[in-house]
Amino acid sequence: MEQDARQESPLIELIKVTKVYPPDIVALEEVSLQVYKGEILFLTGRSGAGKSTLLKLICCLEAPTKGVIEVSGRDLAKIKPPGIQRMRQKIGVAYQDFKILEKQTVAENIAMAMEVTYASKRAIRERIAELLVMLNLSDKHDKLAGELSRGEQQRVALARAAANRPTLLLADEPTGNLDQATTELVIRLLKGLNEESGTTIVVATHDESIYMETDHRVMDLCDGRISVHASRSKPRQIELFEALPA
Ligand SMILES: Nc1ncnc2c1ncn2[C@@H]1O[C@H](COP(=O)(O)OP(=O)(O)OP(=O)(O)O)[C@@H](O)[C@H]1O
Ligand SMILES: [Mg+2]
Repeated sequence: MEQDARQESPLIELIKVTKVYPPDIVALEEVSLQVYKGEILFLTGRSGAGKSTLLKLICCLEAPTKGVIEVSGRDLAKIKPPGIQRMRQKIGVAYQDFKILEKQTVAENIAMAMEVTYASKRAIRERIAELLVMLNLSDKHDKLAGELSRGEQQRVALARAAANRPTLLLADEPTGNLDQATTELVIRLLKGLNEESGTTIVVATHDESIYMETDHRVMDLCDGRISVHASRSKPRQIELFEALPA
């Protein structure tokens, strides 16, 4: 019984979370949701609905105005900065505005995410090569990130977020600038990470094509509130692995 309860415990839980940007922009209002270990959750909603804000709260880039956010059962507001820093090493984030370093090469941008984990030079080299093949960017390895197209930069941002096979991956509009064939490469990368490494994935997207044919949960945000649980398929449970907060 107790074991069942533990297996059901969410990796991330938002309890009545409100986010107000100064002076009075209500981006999220009383949002409650759970994200389970090993699931892929799609977050949809019109522009301005609060999708990016929600992802930023989960990765501690922003703090909630009200409400509680728990990761592996721990209240983020009560974790001290070093703990937050260790936790963030287990979270990969592909930001909507990419946040790549334009004066660094593609390989350097991806390597940066791995160097903080003390991965060996060889492991870093191999992982970069693998990711660039998967995302059809092999010929861009030594190119400056600032000289790439938007769609290429978007894939570099995703490669960097996925590089460490994180426990949790947050992808904000990961296919916004991509054609259908390249979108499929991104989906394959995300699915592979989820299936092979058990990575829990939250994707904010406008792109219906990436979730319509799946049985993953879809949550729709409307003006800062959860409006529809478009799919309620039971999240796939995987073994409990190391809790996110260190
Ligand atoms: N740093 C900020 N300061 C003030 N207001 C903000 C800030 N970031 C977001 N907002 C506002 O909060 C609301 C939610 O924005 P958010 O970026 O989360 O929406 P979104 O669903 O990701 O939109 P999009 O689909 O366009 O990316 C919007 O009204 C936006 O203008
Ligand atoms: Mg957004």
